[in-house]
Amino acid sequence: MTSFDLAASARGKHVFIAGGSSGINLGIGEVFARCGAKVSICSRKADRVAAAVETLKAAGAEAWGGAADVRNYAEVEAVLKAAKEALGPIDVLISGAAGNFVAPALGMSSNAFRTVIEIDLIGTFNVARAGFEFLRKPGASFIAISAPQALHPYAYQAHVNAAKAGVDMLTKTLAVEWGPLGVRCNAIIPGPIADTEGMARLAPTEAERKLAREGTPLQRYGSKDEIGYAALFLASPLAEYITGAILPVDGGAVLPGPGRLGDAMKQAYEKAAPRNR
Ligand code: NAP
Ligand code: COA
Repeated sequence: MTSFDLAASARGKHVFIAGGSSGINLGIGEVFARCGAKVSICSRKADRVAAAVETLKAAGAEAWGGAADVRNYAEVEAVLKAAKEALGPIDVLISGAAGNFVAPALGMSSNAFRTVIEIDLIGTFNVARAGFEFLRKPGASFIAISAPQALHPYAYQAHVNAAKAGVDMLTKTLAVEWGPLGVRCNAIIPGPIADTEGMARLAPTEAERKLAREGTPLQRYGSKDEIGYAALFLASPLAEYITGAILPVDGGAVLPGPGRLGDAMKQAYEKAAPRNR
């Protein structure tokens, strides 16, 4: 292959995004929309879905949306069926709905823990399980949106750590089961992404944002577009031999773990012999 037009590879494809009404998931939809894909979304709140559909249309997509709670299998199945009726068989199925709050394990009720497991992990199962029937096979692609919490035990994130680790293992299991059926299954682990609800909850102060930036080898937050580009690649023919991959798109953030760079790294640097600087 001498050249390849990645953007053109998405033209006309139908991309369904669960949790697509805001943040990273909507950002992924906008990247596909700018490439000429058809984009459908669902989330709980009909008004947010309607606003996001307008955003996707403004970005160039034929777009459709419906309200559904990913915890409710019947709602998920119904919204996927309606999306297929509106825009055709689904080529790229993305599961990104999630919930998060910061709380120590001892400050979480059983229901609080269950709530996040149900949205992130069972929701991802529901989207994949119900979505399979509506995929264009062979050739379709499933992409789960995971998180760094899948790889490191972040304090005050027991629910998300457990849920996203489960999402990664579920994705790998589906890759094994669905590979022979012509469906590739991969996950993206976004690092800290600017202008998102997730980071507003996890790093609400400038001091915490600084720590998150400095804990990232590339020393910055990522953008929603950068997650969209990874999804575009994973869904494209360039990735036709990639399945079961858990792809960090995170400036290297998962390598050292949470908050293990920053001041400690700077102090080590200061102490280093000049020839090592
Ligand atoms: P966000 O804007 O709050 O996105 C979450 C989306 O999920 C919303 O559209 C929300 O819409 C929907 N949602 C929540 N509960 C739902 C449910 N039960 N059923 C259906 N939809 C539901 O947050 P974000 O920060 O962009 O996060 C998006 C994804 O990226 C998540 O999977 C998150 O774990 C992952 N991630 C984020 C970061 C980051 O830096 N922000 C880093 C790593 C991973 P409704 O309220 O209308 O339901
Ligand atoms: N600390 C401890 N427990 C908390 C909490 C917090 N900050 N916030 C919620 N909970 C508990 C509630 O008290 C409840 O438990 P209880 O019944 O024992 O009292 C349980 O979690 C469920 O809360 P509820 O508000 O009923 O859940 P919901 O389904 O309406 O909302 C959330 C789900 C809590 C995850 C909500 O934050 C949400 O909708 N988030 C979506 C957006 C988001 O999180 N974006 C970032 C994605 S990374």
